[in-house]
Amino acid sequence: MCGIIGFVGLRQARPILIDGLRRLEYRGYDSAGLATLSEGRLLVHRRVGRVSELASAVPADLAGATGIAHTRWATHGGVTQANAHPHTDSLGRIAVVHNGIVENMAALKARLVAEGAVFRSETDSEVIAHLIAHFYDGFGPLGDSIMPDVAGDPVAAVRTAMARVRGTWGVAVVFADQPDIIVAARNGSPLVVGLGEGETFLASDSHALTPYTRRVVYLQDRELALLSREGVQTFLLDGGEANPTVHELEEEWGDSEKGDFPNFMLKEIHDQPDALRQCLGGRILAEEGTAKLGGLDLSPRRVMEVSRVGFIGCGTAYHACMVGAAAVEQLARVPATAEIASEYRYRNPVIDPRSLHFAVSQSGETADTLGATREIELKGGEIMGIVNVVGSSIARTCGKGVYIHSGPEMAVASTKAFTNMIAAMYLFALQMGRTRALSPSQGREFAEALRAVPDLVERYLKDPGPIDAAVTAVIKAKNVLFLGRGVSAAVAAEGALKLMEVAYVPCIAYPSGEMKHGPIALLEPGSPVIVIAPDDALKDKTLSNLQESRARGAFIVLITSEGDEYSEMGDVNIVVPRTHELLSPLLTVLPLQLLAYQAGLALGRDIDRPRNLAKSVTVE
Ligand code: M6R
Repeated sequence: MCGIIGFVGLRQARPILIDGLRRLEYRGYDSAGLATLSEGRLLVHRRVGRVSELASAVPADLAGATGIAHTRWATHGGVTQANAHPHTDSLGRIAVVHNGIVENMAALKARLVAEGAVFRSETDSEVIAHLIAHFYDGFGPLGDSIMPDVAGDPVAAVRTAMARVRGTWGVAVVFADQPDIIVAARNGSPLVVGLGEGETFLASDSHALTPYTRRVVYLQDRELALLSREGVQTFLLDGGEANPTVHELEEEWGDSEKGDFPNFMLKEIHDQPDALRQCLGGRILAEEGTAKLGGLDLSPRRVMEVSRVGFIGCGTAYHACMVGAAAVEQLARVPATAEIASEYRYRNPVIDPRSLHFAVSQSGETADTLGATREIELKGGEIMGIVNVVGSSIARTCGKGVYIHSGPEMAVASTKAFTNMIAAMYLFALQMGRTRALSPSQGREFAEALRAVPDLVERYLKDPGPIDAAVTAVIKAKNVLFLGRGVSAAVAAEGALKLMEVAYVPCIAYPSGEMKHGPIALLEPGSPVIVIAPDDALKDKTLSNLQESRARGAFIVLITSEGDEYSEMGDVNIVVPRTHELLSPLLTVLPLQLLAYQAGLALGRDIDRPRNLAKSVTVE
């Protein structure tokens, strides 16, 4: 959450900062701000709203070849100009942008206020600016002693201050009397330094750097960096220098322009056939009826030893995990579970060292999923990534894993990452299944069906059926109920999440069998119920629940597969191409993505940037 960009060089910083913020805006878009350094002064501009508001407010000729900038997703303090970053110390000599949360804000603030610091915002981040100023001025931890080694030394001041901050941070700091440097520090919130020719960049996300350089240094937790025109020096928060490793960013990983589409969400829905081809390409071994995921580095012997599989993620990634767990149990006959990362990390989980875990994340930066990853490692478990963003924190922390190859997903609502996460998990389930349970012909049958899916997705998207009629039913509803069984229960959950986040329509999703244990009380004449019932072993049971809803006057939107004799049972009937029953989520989720998209459009929502959300959730 929140995006940081920084630049130190010889050219004007403003265009680089604004361009960087635009690339990072998906991380948060409540407000934005920047600070540049010119003639011993900090020039700070902040605005509520999108980066475009800031860009119009900042003079085109804004001076300064060193600067930092930030796009905010509010945590502490409302969405106001005063709470936008950068924050400065009382005298306006030090400016700070911060991603993360200061957990001991109250104690630090009380002490700084007692010493005379003047706070101008409600944020936790402002504490950092005052604390750094306190040490930069040479005061000791209690304000009474003097620290001559720290006074006037930007790195020492940031190090001494951040050692007293509890919580998570990625910070960038500029000093009015140090015109050619930025000091950065990281603990739990990613920062990456970009190395140019005579200029150096900083960003919370390496994508923001690709127009300028491909040579990067990822800061590690509890490291600091001193950026100058000459490059970067890194230090350990606890003392001493660190050894920066320079990485080469991969070639541009896809097109992040909207093309002819009105927004990213619709484009990304239509990207799915090609994105799936990218994910599956070269990984299916048709002849042997299995799959090969090189990044997992799993020998058949290790596969045989696995006692359980756990898939861990948040939001849409969690729904993908539900499908993945079902696929592993069915194909490999190994116990498998889907876990919500924010719950998992704090419940002191029992980790069997023979089990295998997967951290599933589009961004690779989700704080809870990263936290769960670390907890599993700490307990001696084995965890691998199923991640989209190459080089992201989860990918690097896990070391091993599978890239899902969706290409950049810019819309906050996840679509093509969902289908590619599932596709990657099917590949793993097939690989494991073929080693442990499936015959060659069973393996080949599943592999063939999986390979055919991208064409089926493409065919459906060309003629998606009566989505408009479903939109009419949901946009005026008090609430919408989504029902499905087995893997379709995960699709129901994903459909509800999508409609809530894009159209702000209240939704609930239940495994169909649970409906009569509570949610049925919501049904009134005309209540929309979306039933996902492709032709599988559970369809008859789901259809009984459909009848129970209809008996209470519900308006049924039914999603089935081609050729199902019950395809006309709904008030609105949407038919998707037929596939292997375990693979149906790759098809049945498509009308739900389109439903959310079109409902959002009909209600005038901001499709790509729904209110209150951010693409990358880097705080707990
Ligand atoms: O980047 P991640 O896949 O880890 O993100 C997890 C969730 O924050 C994300 O899926 C969220 O639920 C989406 N906005 C849903 O569309």
